Amino acid sequence: MTQAAQTLAEIDQARSVHPYTNLSAHRDEGPFVITRGEGIYVWDDQGNQLIEGMAGLWCTSLGFNEPRLVDAATRQMKELPYSHLFAHRATEPAVVLADMLVDLAPDPISRAFFVNSGSEAVDSAIKMVWYYNNAHGRPAKKKIIARKRAYHGVTIAAGSLTGLPYVQDGFDLPAIPVLHTEAPHYYREGHNDETEIAFADRLVASLEAMIEQEGADTIAAFIAEPVMGAGGVLLPPETYFEKVQALLRKHDILFIADEVICGFARTGEMFGCQTYGIAPDIMTCAKQLSSAYLPIGAVLISEQVYEGLVAGSDKLGVFGTGNTYGGHPVSAAVAIETLKIYAERDITSHVKSLEPTVRHGLDRLAQHPLVGQARGVGLIGAAELVADKQSREQYPVGDKIAAKVAAHARKHNLILRPVPGDGIAFCPPLVINDDELNLMFDRLIAALDDVHQEIT
Ligand SMILES: Cc1ncc(COP(=O)(O)O)c(C=O)c1O
Repeated sequence: MTQAAQTLAEIDQARSVHPYTNLSAHRDEGPFVITRGEGIYVWDDQGNQLIEGMAGLWCTSLGFNEPRLVDAATRQMKELPYSHLFAHRATEPAVVLADMLVDLAPDPISRAFFVNSGSEAVDSAIKMVWYYNNAHGRPAKKKIIARKRAYHGVTIAAGSLTGLPYVQDGFDLPAIPVLHTEAPHYYREGHNDETEIAFADRLVASLEAMIEQEGADTIAAFIAEPVMGAGGVLLPPETYFEKVQALLRKHDILFIADEVICGFARTGEMFGCQTYGIAPDIMTCAKQLSSAYLPIGAVLISEQVYEGLVAGSDKLGVFGTGNTYGGHPVSAAVAIETLKIYAERDITSHVKSLEPTVRHGLDRLAQHPLVGQARGVGLIGAAELVADKQSREQYPVGDKIAAKVAAHARKHNLILRPVPGDGIAFCPPLVINDDELNLMFDRLIAALDDVHQEIT
């Protein structure tokens, strides 16, 4: 067994290129091999049983061994393993899934377009926005406003919208017309004595100044994650989204809600838009749509946007975009089963029922000497590490303090993720229970204790 795993590691070092990895360090250190999973746990090739406190990449909502998803995939594989949706073709799973998604989504969403990942969903949304404005004779209305610290993926448009240097550096991004406005990070960016509402007003005033300076007739859309995930788990300040939304309406700018992490109960409502009162023109989703068991994503659009696409396709003869695997019947069948399970188990109520335990965990974290702020909503959160709780001074970047905590967490059999700004994020499978959550926080606090001891 060990021999086989070693061989696997060696082959990996010699043959693979890993995403989001320091490639030379990987050549030296090799991979962290995961072999199986059950519930909120995964096992590595050394036999360690770890809590997957990030649900993989914020995605395995139903844990690691949901047999109904396996059965749904098997059934569909046997019935029709592949067909596509180009040129008027349809399949039952893709139609049923579109219908279910539109029923779940907030107004004014009325239609679904399928892709295979979050990045593809974001790229497709941007293409739709451009196509829509071209159809309406507004060829100059093309810029997209995103936010600093946003994460929208890695493809050329999505990677351009992402507001994190490590995603863009070396790749000649941004490569599309994008503007980055302020990140809604009250703890770090709020001024002394500034209330959360005053902070939101300041951000919205800055956004308005950007729109006026650029000219609203050049700006097509604003894109935002309801809760910023990979940028640090940043929760919007009170009143922020209602004010942003009013401003966008005033200037005829579309609102794209990137629900790739928040979608499907992560924040305690089915979508982050519902948690924060957003009525989006376009929503992008993926990840928890299928509990990540198979790749699938969707762009959900309003009838107004759809009518723009129809107008464009009337002019041009075809709505000329789509992917070979978009709406793949097996992925769609798994997504349908996932949505059925969410409904049967009343997943949003389950997440809400865990709020007191999450709150208690956040309170414990906030008391730790290394933690400046512990924040969260639903089942997503982060502890922001500081050198000085009073002044909020951070550790030098070179100390990689959050990475150290994540490494120690691993020794305590907990997988967590360092996020920008010295945050340590958690985002466990939604099927977690109170005891497991308490255990997750115990292990995180043990890791914080280790690092605290190490540096003092
Ligand atoms: C908010 C958000 N949008 C888009 C993406 C990109 O998704 P994918 O990695 O499936 O391309 C991610 C991935 O983490 C995400 O968090």
